[in-house]
Amino acid sequence: MNILILGSGGREHAFAWKMAQSPRCRGLFVAPGNAGTASVATNLPIGVNEFERLAEAALRHQIDLIVVGPEEPLVRGIRDYFEEHEALRHIRLLGPGADGARLEGSKDFSKGFMQRHGIPTAASRTFTRFELAEGLEYLKHHSLPVVLKADGLAAGKGVVIAETTGEAEAALGEMLVEGKFGAAGNKVVVEAFLSGIELSVFVLTDGMHYQVLPEAKDYKRVGENDTGLNTGGMGAVSPVPFADATFMRKVEERAIRPTLDGLRAEGISYVGFLFFGLMNVRGEPYVIEYNARMGDPETEVVIPRIQSDLVDLLLAAATGNLHRVSVRVDARAAATVMLVSGGYPEAYQKGKPISGHRETGPVTVFHAGTRLDPRGEIVTDGGRVMAVTALAPSLEEALRHAQQAARLIEYDNKYFRKDIGWEFVGKEFRSL
Ligand code: AMP
Ligand code: GLY
Repeated sequence: MNILILGSGGREHAFAWKMAQSPRCRGLFVAPGNAGTASVATNLPIGVNEFERLAEAALRHQIDLIVVGPEEPLVRGIRDYFEEHEALRHIRLLGPGADGARLEGSKDFSKGFMQRHGIPTAASRTFTRFELAEGLEYLKHHSLPVVLKADGLAAGKGVVIAETTGEAEAALGEMLVEGKFGAAGNKVVVEAFLSGIELSVFVLTDGMHYQVLPEAKDYKRVGENDTGLNTGGMGAVSPVPFADATFMRKVEERAIRPTLDGLRAEGISYVGFLFFGLMNVRGEPYVIEYNARMGDPETEVVIPRIQSDLVDLLLAAATGNLHRVSVRVDARAAATVMLVSGGYPEAYQKGKPISGHRETGPVTVFHAGTRLDPRGEIVTDGGRVMAVTALAPSLEEALRHAQQAARLIEYDNKYFRKDIGWEFVGKEFRSL
């Protein structure tokens, strides 16, 4: 069959890399892709939100299955677009419609959803642009730190954790009145701060059945020991040592099942990945957020641990047959280290030639922000440049391999965190 993947990051390269290994995959396309996806698939120079052009390309290339990587086209209704057009209806699409994608596209909706279905989450209240005074009054009596979230999509930047009431008041004003996050900040969710360890749990669902995929831990801050600004993610590990069977059972009973039952009860037919951003608070899971897609860089550790044919799994999910397949998971550990452009997540330069990315034994290099320049050379093209993943019998070995390969890759102003995952194996990373 012919498959089209939408997106251009490490997540999409990992999908393409895995799907290319399937005997069922005939034509594999990525729109718009990057230099890495170009090595396993055909890149199509079409943006993920250009529905009409994507539809044309899907028909031209006789695409059977579209796998949507990022959230934006989902929130904008790409599934609905393909369902509304007669000529496109035969094409299977993996990803929820705009109604289901609201779980990610609106924090206010997702908080309301969790409250309606008894899913453990931080206590919260939402304030609109017309309720600034009430919001400021509410903040006066709120415990600290307090978390403020712009309601809409803000590319991972719409969350402020305020340590003082003054900071919180300023942030509320910036979002609601000054339009710091544009329309995304027209509503702000104010919620209690949860103290614990975060992890990401992924579910694949066909609307009726579901399969739990390997869990992962993501490292969001740019600096070592989780300091500095928030990024899209600087690395990830899977499995997550503290996510033992007891904890995962709680996640399934208290978060996964009530969420999928809740979706059905609200008449939302949800097909695709559902990402539970969780906080483990003294052994109890709380949902911090939902995403309507896989995580990045979590996908770069989750996919290498899936032994089953990914095309089989995704097709089963897209056709209501997920109960007929099983997900075989590699017991080994995966670690990924994200190489970024110096300066990221603030200003950085692009177009730097990259060398030294060799894939040996346990190491796979997934491209994120890369492109081929006119001479066919691979150059940097984003803040997050490459995710270096290693799969090994122990997390420590995986980390060593990933870090070693990360060190060998060269480009101007390369930066990566050297502490990813080491809190789970020991304190010796500094001596490496
Ligand atoms: P979100 O965009 O909702 O994932 O939030 C971004 C990050 O802010 C999360 O990954 C957490 O690290 C942090 N965060 C969000 N909500 C809370 C909360 N209620 N308590 C503590 N940290 C939070
Ligand atoms: N790595 C977090 C995310 O994909 O949202």
